[in-house]
Amino acid sequence: MRYRKIGHTDIEASVIAFGAWAIGGWKWGGTDANAAIAAIDTAIDEGINFIDTAAVYGFGVSEELVGKAIQKHSREKLVIATKCGLRWDTESEYLHIESDGKRVFRTLHADSIEHELNASLKRLNTDYIDLYQTHWPDPHTPPADVMDALIKQKQAGKIRSIGFCNASINDLNEAIATGELDVDQEKYSLLDRDREADNLPICAQHTLSFLAYSPIAQGLLTDKLNTPRQYNEGDLRIGNPRFSPNNIERITTVLKPVKQLADERQVSVEHIVLAWTLQQPGMGHVLVGARNAEQARHNAIAGDLLLTDEEYKRVSDAALGWSGWE
Ligand SMILES: NC(=O)c1ccc[n+]([C@@H]2O[C@H](COP(=O)([O-])OP(=O)(O)OC[C@H]3O[C@@H](n4cnc5c(N)ncnc54)[C@H](OP(=O)(O)O)[C@@H]3O)[C@@H](O)[C@H]2O)c1
Repeated sequence: MRYRKIGHTDIEASVIAFGAWAIGGWKWGGTDANAAIAAIDTAIDEGINFIDTAAVYGFGVSEELVGKAIQKHSREKLVIATKCGLRWDTESEYLHIESDGKRVFRTLHADSIEHELNASLKRLNTDYIDLYQTHWPDPHTPPADVMDALIKQKQAGKIRSIGFCNASINDLNEAIATGELDVDQEKYSLLDRDREADNLPICAQHTLSFLAYSPIAQGLLTDKLNTPRQYNEGDLRIGNPRFSPNNIERITTVLKPVKQLADERQVSVEHIVLAWTLQQPGMGHVLVGARNAEQARHNAIAGDLLLTDEEYKRVSDAALGWSGWE
């Protein structure tokens, strides 16, 4: 497993992070607590020390599972990242999403951040969080005020570093101007490359870690792409146009040369995809969701895989065949 520093800090985090959204169950067709804890345990045993969760994942369930799983591991070796700013227990001016009978609001007022941070510390059963991130921007709170609130929590010793997710370039630049932003977390994969034009070069320029979320496109950039399957009720992939037979056929065509390379290197398509992603200019870490020990062990392999220049080019050339989602 390779490790890279988080932003300007000395925090060494594995290039493959354990993405803990799916284990929370919400949007992923339910949760299996034993499988989730085994997945985190195995990930840590495989050298993954970086875990990304959020208060809203399963409305606290994901953080609680992470909190349980990490008790038998040495806390100081782990890099625990979580997020604030999506509230289901109170209302604000901005409704983010209404789903499964829950209304989720965006808010990043200082009082709300403090309230959420204390709740996350409790659920995670820890007294500090290594990376605290805003989940989505709150149009009613300027980024400078959000940074002020987060910097106060950092000074209080409750968090060690600060990140923004899903940030506009303006918000990002305002936060960077404080000198205290270490992370930008955005959607990025071989099929979602918009951030190469803006966030990635900004991160490289200002020594921010770019964290790529959904790097295997929620299962599409894997060897299992063509395996027929039935998703559980409530799974975000049901009826999702990204998973249409047309898109799956188009992705299969794009991945043909990647599959050939994977066979030559005796690994899986997802390993090549993750290695290629990690070799993108400005890239920090990839956050890969896993629901069980088998997936966690399998995905960790990519943390040791380096593509040669020629292999990297073969994947880049294949990716040029992708003309976007239909
Ligand atoms: N900041 C944000 O707004 C934001 C948004 C999205 C995600 N994230 C973060 O990024 C993490 C990862 O994103 P993501 O969960 O959306 O997508 P992802 O990592 O691209 O896909 C994860 C899903 O792919 C499937 N999978 C995992 N390993 C596999 C393998 N080896 N072969 C085949 N399928 C495999 C699993 O679902 P099945 O087993 O059910 O197929 C898993 O839940 C999240 O957990 C979260 O930490 C952040």
